[in-house]
Amino acid sequence: MKGIQGKKVLVTGGSSGIGQAIAIKFAEYGADVAINYYRNRDEAEATEDALNWCRRQVQQHGGKDILVQADVSKKEDVDGMFDAVIGEWGTVDFLINNAGIQIAADSHELDVEKFTRVINTNTIGAFMCAQRAIQHWLSEDKAGVIINVSSVHQVIPKPRFVGYSVSKGGMQNLTRTLALEYAGRKIRVNGIGPGATVTPINRAWIDDPEKKAMVESHIPMGRAGESEEMAEASAFLCSDFAAYITGQTLFVDGGLTLYPDFRTAWSSE
Ligand code: NAI
Repeated sequence: MKGIQGKKVLVTGGSSGIGQAIAIKFAEYGADVAINYYRNRDEAEATEDALNWCRRQVQQHGGKDILVQADVSKKEDVDGMFDAVIGEWGTVDFLINNAGIQIAADSHELDVEKFTRVINTNTIGAFMCAQRAIQHWLSEDKAGVIINVSSVHQVIPKPRFVGYSVSKGGMQNLTRTLALEYAGRKIRVNGIGPGATVTPINRAWIDDPEKKAMVESHIPMGRAGESEEMAEASAFLCSDFAAYITGQTLFVDGGLTLYPDFRTAWSSE
């Protein structure tokens, strides 16, 4: 894809799901990829397998990879990650803010610590990474692109996931505000808004045919999205084909943000 070959891209949360697909897609298009991963004890083994698989795929496409451990919700980790990547490559061209979590609970019972954890990871983490990337581009007077992996829930409320909805709503304004602030300095900032996508974050329904059919019954196009589809949209927004696009969120959602309940004219007839 035009403008991706030879570029350096940092993908947060790149060891699984959408982030992993993005890492591999950019390698397919000729970029070098820094794969950020985050391990906790519970997911260590699964993450390691996924990480190694991702790394082999990137290398298979000729991309040079960097593996970089960091918890994006911690400033010292974010700084360490950027120091490591820029130290090794000398630069970074694209930042993909993909790392994200969600926690379910009735809002009136939600532990404030859990609410904060989601915001710290999804929104503040994305901001801290964006800040480091922008500082680098300004100091080198070079161009850069940020993609925020947001969600349809940046505009659709998500009961029982209030931290998640708030974090993604914040991401929309993060995208728009940074885009406006740096538009005149060769920096573009866009988002993608995935709909229901087959990844580990949705382990509650992806392997259960009945639950999956129920989820898909709500989607106008009748199926869940694939990580590769999110990766293509991210690559497009980083590419030269999107050179005049900034501040936008591209929803990749099979029509989920089109108010599916209005498929029939129940409100007027
Ligand atoms: P996933 O659970 O496979 O990926 C999330 C990644 O973020 C994991 O690799 C995880 O290790 C990493 N991560 C979590 N906390 C982190 C932290 N503190 N520091 C660094 N990395 C951390 O799930 P998926 O679906 O691939 O999610 C990726 C992004 O896509 C998330 O931001 C999510 O909100 C968004 N998204 C996903 C949708 C879906 O249906 N799968 C729909 C809409 C948005």
